[in-house]
Amino acid sequence: MYTGTGFGNDWLKNEILKQMRERDPSWDAERKWRFRNGSLDNVRSALTVTGISDYDSIQDDSGSGSCSDGNKDITDSGRVSLMEPVWERLREIHISKAGTEYTLTLDREDYSALYPGMIRFVLAVSTGGNRVAVFRTNTFEYSPLSPLAAETVALGKSVEWEDELGRDPALVISGCRERERPSGKRPAADLVLLQGSPRADGNCAILAGWVADAARDRGRTVEVIYPHDLDIHCCIGCYQCYNTGSCVFDDDMNRIIDAVRGARLIIVCSPVYTNTVTAGTKLVIDRMQAYHAERTLIGGKDGQNGILFSVAGRKGGDNFTCITKVVHAFFRNCGIRPAGDILIDSVDAVKDIRKIAGKREAVQNLISTVL
Ligand SMILES: Cc1cc2nc3c(=O)[nH]c(=O)nc-3n(C[C@H](O)[C@H](O)[C@H](O)COP(=O)(O)O)c2cc1C
Repeated sequence: MYTGTGFGNDWLKNEILKQMRERDPSWDAERKWRFRNGSLDNVRSALTVTGISDYDSIQDDSGSGSCSDGNKDITDSGRVSLMEPVWERLREIHISKAGTEYTLTLDREDYSALYPGMIRFVLAVSTGGNRVAVFRTNTFEYSPLSPLAAETVALGKSVEWEDELGRDPALVISGCRERERPSGKRPAADLVLLQGSPRADGNCAILAGWVADAARDRGRTVEVIYPHDLDIHCCIGCYQCYNTGSCVFDDDMNRIIDAVRGARLIIVCSPVYTNTVTAGTKLVIDRMQAYHAERTLIGGKDGQNGILFSVAGRKGGDNFTCITKVVHAFFRNCGIRPAGDILIDSVDAVKDIRKIAGKREAVQNLISTVL
């Protein structure tokens, strides 16, 4: 397994190497096991074997196979690279209360490789090898006008917790449990289609029907999502998803993320509204930031494809310039490989895309090449 310069901080690399060699003296690090070809699983299993549970994420920062637009956390193959921050322990305090030993730690994690200047502070209480309380805050949570700074908040909280652990540990433990991770138990459809037109019987609805038929003909399952019918709060840019991997809002977006998480193919089907996607589609795209955070911090599925279907009233391919950029950026953000677009203009004149020869076949052909 490769634990060279492209992976991990020095402590993690050395610890894995040391512990694995204690178990198997022939065990060594080789470049060939880089994160490609499933080697992330090797890293994970080595972490399990060595009992190293106190890590948050792993990053392949080698840049090999990364996207040309600088999204280093997404490889060409769509394989996920977890991000390991540059890590530093700021405080470690041991407190004994009523016969129980507690360890309070405060770590500083530098995620500048993800977003310039993003620093996350992780305050944790462990006892008997289990993490029983955790609080995270990051620098992006605080707006330019806020008098608070993440480090001040984290340090203040650590002093507060130190005091509370000495008096009554239940005060800390009951209030700050780790948030539940996504279960992934919900059966996922092969294809998830975001039908972004508010018109239930418009051209995008026709396109969605063609897509669903083509997928079902190939024995694939399909889930169609109508964002305009759902309860989805807009993203408020709180950046708390980069603390936990999930959104502060508990609404219909949860099941959209569940569906996307498990799908092989994600299709965005939106008419052009003022040169871009419809409002409902944009709501979903912005809220997928939590999914980006989840993939960055926890990991996710690889090899997903994405397709954009769009219709525009006006004539000319330039009506799709903006929407294509928006949807492709969304795909790349989520580790989804843009696998083709079908863009149909002049629809104001034609009214009904069923009248345009060859469009249904074009949809079927594209679906059959990626599913
Ligand atoms: C609010 C609004 C904004 C629109 N903006 C554009 C636009 O910027 N460019 C364009 O070519 N068509 C625009 N259209 C036309 C739609 O793209 C077109 O009517 C499309 O066929 C609607 O798709 P649907 O039938 O799936 O709802 C707009 C329509 C609406 C209602």
